[in-house]
Amino acid sequence: MFSAGLSATLLALAFATPVAAAGDQANGQKLFKKCSACHSLEEGKKKVGPSLYKIFGATPGQVAKFRYSKGMTSYGATGVVWDEETLDAWLTKPKDLVKKTKMAFPGFKKEQDRADVIAYLKSLSE
Ligand code: HEC
Repeated sequence: MFSAGLSATLLALAFATPVAAAGDQANGQKLFKKCSACHSLEEGKKKVGPSLYKIFGATPGQVAKFRYSKGMTSYGATGVVWDEETLDAWLTKPKDLVKKTKMAFPGFKKEQDRADVIAYLKSLSE
């Protein structure tokens, strides 16, 4: 039948589209220990880094009273927001995304680790 063939094709297309690895929030919360030395999740609580309160969906470099690097301010001015894609790039190697960033974190090598932390941050912004 035509319709069965069509839905099989659509199904195949759906699976062929590359999607980021699904993140595990609970593991992301554990991995966040690597971030919490420098980042609080409480609104307005600054550490070495800015608070990451509701950071998912936010414009980079906008937390009040935090002195960002010029690179981060310029990155935010390009119109991007922190989402799965931008956070994945950031957490792969911060210095590759934002030149001369102040964030002294080398990045996560494993895509799954990044996806888990991103899922955790996303859950806190919902
Ligand atoms: C050694 C301290 C340190 C560690 C560890 C660290 N960060 Fe950062 N982070 C910073 C600093 C400092 C900045 C500001 C960067 C700039 O201005 O260039 C920053 C910026 C950020 C931003 C952008 C915030 C904004 O307001 O736009 C995000 C998102 C972020 N960090 C996430 C993380 C995550 C997730 C981790 C853990 C995987 C992490 N950071 C680990 C210090 C750190």
